Amino acid sequence: MGCCHYYAFTDGGDVAFNVDMSAMTFGSGCLAEAGDQARALGMKRVALFTDKGVARFPHVETVAKSLRAAGCDVAVYDEVKVEPTDGSFQAATGFAAEGKFDGYVSVGGGSVIDTCKAANLYATYPADFLAYVNAPLGEARPVPGPLKPHIACPTTCGTGAECTGIAVFDYLALKVKTGIAHRRIRPTLALIDPTTSYTLPKNVVAASGFDVLSHALESYTAIPYTMRARPERPSLRPMSQGANPWSDIGCRKALELTGQYIQRAVSDAGDHEARDNMMYAAALAGIAFGNAGVHVPHGMSYAVAGLVKSFNPEGYPKAEPLVPHGMSVIVNSPAVFRHLADACPERHLEGARWLGADVRGAVEADAGEVLATHLIKLMQVTGMPNGVGGVGYGSSDLDALAEGTFAQQRLIRNSPKAMTVESLKQLFAGAMAYW
Ligand SMILES: [Fe+2]
Repeated sequence: MGCCHYYAFTDGGDVAFNVDMSAMTFGSGCLAEAGDQARALGMKRVALFTDKGVARFPHVETVAKSLRAAGCDVAVYDEVKVEPTDGSFQAATGFAAEGKFDGYVSVGGGSVIDTCKAANLYATYPADFLAYVNAPLGEARPVPGPLKPHIACPTTCGTGAECTGIAVFDYLALKVKTGIAHRRIRPTLALIDPTTSYTLPKNVVAASGFDVLSHALESYTAIPYTMRARPERPSLRPMSQGANPWSDIGCRKALELTGQYIQRAVSDAGDHEARDNMMYAAALAGIAFGNAGVHVPHGMSYAVAGLVKSFNPEGYPKAEPLVPHGMSVIVNSPAVFRHLADACPERHLEGARWLGADVRGAVEADAGEVLATHLIKLMQVTGMPNGVGGVGYGSSDLDALAEGTFAQQRLIRNSPKAMTVESLKQLFAGAMAYW
């Protein structure tokens, strides 16, 4: 692989890449397989995680019924917080520790799946909360051994959380989003039933769809794995290992599907072909970014979501201000790709073409503008906010946004260009409004 241009070997750079992924079952109605799959994984006493919003739909009941029919003893935890916090992770851990479960099933969006990962981790290997949390906030201690089996059943077509070893939360004391990242917290099996997306509000489909899009685009344009320093021991190779030939395959297909279907999936809940394909794109992008890692738009999204003032879009819980994850990512993406394109222009042009942009006659110097223009067009036709200004920020917030982003070193280091607080400030200034 060292012969390919983007993956040319470098002095001190890594020479190999990992492929880690959950097993996956994809298809209409497959939630009803949960019981049989759980028993095959040796589960008898099962913690079923969800949130109160998801619990109103029949999916949780479908899964619970299937588990009980297979002879599992099921305890439901529906206290998961949308946009989880250190406190909500710890509350879920309390439930998990007390119940002495031998397996976990999560039904919901990224918040539910991530909370279940964390509860499984801390109940299996108890430790101070910051022990497993990403550095520099936490100790980033490696997970000591395998966790209990976890079947993740996503009900939004976005996060890819069912395929990754990352659990994201808000650390309330510092008002920052951070996470736990280790391959051992990846769910054992992803049970992906696209019919769960048929009841989602359009804004949720749009935000989730842009999360998928940015996972694929960021993974494809991340620093090549050959340019990241070789780890001390192979077992220490990070999951965010940089772009690699295997992740590239999933990125390409996810971008093609997103380009083809996102607008249809948003505008017509009855367009099942579009929603099915967005769900599949989410899984492909999740597998890709789980092995490559995202970079600057996601790094910036943590600050955009964490510092939210009063924004609260249609289709989401109204209890508190909230910038949904996919929105907090995509408002940054056009400005970021405009800036990063000259680091690997051919990859930015390919990304634009796969998303459906007209790249005829475009040369490498046009890559950033062609891609940014197409992203902006997709944002407009799906009703996304007009940049960072559209979710409530102004020029007086640039310092706080840039500093909040710079703290996300795990993501920033995966960028194809080095970033400083000053360059991040300029990116946020360029992301304030696009039209
Ligand atoms: Fe994401």
